[in-house]
Amino acid sequence: MLKIMPVFGTRPEAIKMAPLLKILEAQEEIQTITTVTAQHREMLDQVLQLFKLIPVYDLNIMQPEQSLTEVTVSVLSKIGEIISKEKPDLMLVHGDTATTFASSLAAFYHKIPVGHVEAGLRTYNKYSPYPEEMNRKLTGCMADLHFAPTQTAKEALLKEGVSAGQIFVTGNTVIDALLQTVDKGYKFKDATLKQLDFESRKVILLTAHRRENIGARMEHIFQAVKELVRQHHDTEVVVPVHLNPVVQKLAERVFRGIERVKMLPPLAYEEFVNLMDRCYLVLTDSGGLQEEAPALGKPVLVLRDTTERPEAIAAGTVKLIGTEPEKIIAETTSLLVNPDLYRKMAAAVNPYGDGKAAERILQAIRYYFKLSPHPVKEYNSSL
Ligand code: UD1
Ligand code: UDP
Repeated sequence: MLKIMPVFGTRPEAIKMAPLLKILEAQEEIQTITTVTAQHREMLDQVLQLFKLIPVYDLNIMQPEQSLTEVTVSVLSKIGEIISKEKPDLMLVHGDTATTFASSLAAFYHKIPVGHVEAGLRTYNKYSPYPEEMNRKLTGCMADLHFAPTQTAKEALLKEGVSAGQIFVTGNTVIDALLQTVDKGYKFKDATLKQLDFESRKVILLTAHRRENIGARMEHIFQAVKELVRQHHDTEVVVPVHLNPVVQKLAERVFRGIERVKMLPPLAYEEFVNLMDRCYLVLTDSGGLQEEAPALGKPVLVLRDTTERPEAIAAGTVKLIGTEPEKIIAETTSLLVNPDLYRKMAAAVNPYGDGKAAERILQAIRYYFKLSPHPVKEYNSSL
């Protein structure tokens, strides 16, 4: 039996690991010891519930307004204990979170190989996204298997000296999750979503949570959105507010009482992606949304100065606009009033995957551990 220990802790990691866990759990020659740090609690539990994932270990580390140091130290010591007990053949981590970095470090200290899912994304700016750029890079230094979602990500790893034999271009598992969840006939459960009029109103989906945006930059974003709604009577904004108390307080202060801004708690993934599928455009500083929305043909204006996901920008469906209010208002207004521009940005493109990323990761793992003689056939994005 091959003992694999997937570790994750936040909402986006859980969404992106879910398709892979399902496939791993179905393998007779693999024992999967799913471990959650619960760096997030409620937002993680929403995903575990939806995908019916039952962790073997739950470290339950979340603290309100936790610092990066607290998360990192807590994960490092607690994951180390589980590794000592379970002695897995491989740890699997995802992306760029504190959980990912600290778990990889714990695996390294115990000389356990690490497989890094969603490897090789880079901005080359260590403070943007902060601290995720550095988390992903440091995890890459410790990883033995690098599952790069795209060719661009593979090239970044090659440039850093990772050997080609350790990199597998798989596509992003978020597209697996998305395709398994979006449903044209989906009926919303949330009362506010049920009442949205997608025909006569332009529904804008807004999310913001990045640590480097917290403070004046997030205030600028929210004030700009408030002004947009005031100027455009045919718009309605839906904001599922991240549970970070700082984000909660700011959203409450700026948006309370604004009729056409609907603040909601974090939405279950199926509610959220089906909302994205029906909305007019997306304003966000999220990483995952930059991958999902293009696949659904939704223009995305990214409220950041850098992105580690350049593929959809090259394809023309995503635009990086920063957080200056004038810029946010001008760029969003163009998409609201210029149908030609809107149509160009709304062409569905799928540079991030074809829904088979988890299957390719499994094949690469089986090949690496000599359970299969066949190397994985790589995902070939047209971009
Ligand atoms: C983390 C990740 C970030 C990812 C984001 C997804 C790091 C360094 N950052 O950032 O890459 O984009 O998750 O959302 O790992 N909270 C709750 N309940 C929850 C979740 C969060 O109350 O279910 C609150 C807590 O007060 C917590 C705070 O949100 O202290 C911040 O959470 P944390 O995981 O530390 O950082 P994020 O900013 O969410
Ligand atoms: N998401 C969700 N409910 C929400 C907001 C986001 O299910 O209310 C999903 C979204 O579809 C995407 C992921 O959560 O897959 C993005 O998470 P987040 O923005 O917190 O993190 P990031 O992608 O920036 O790391």
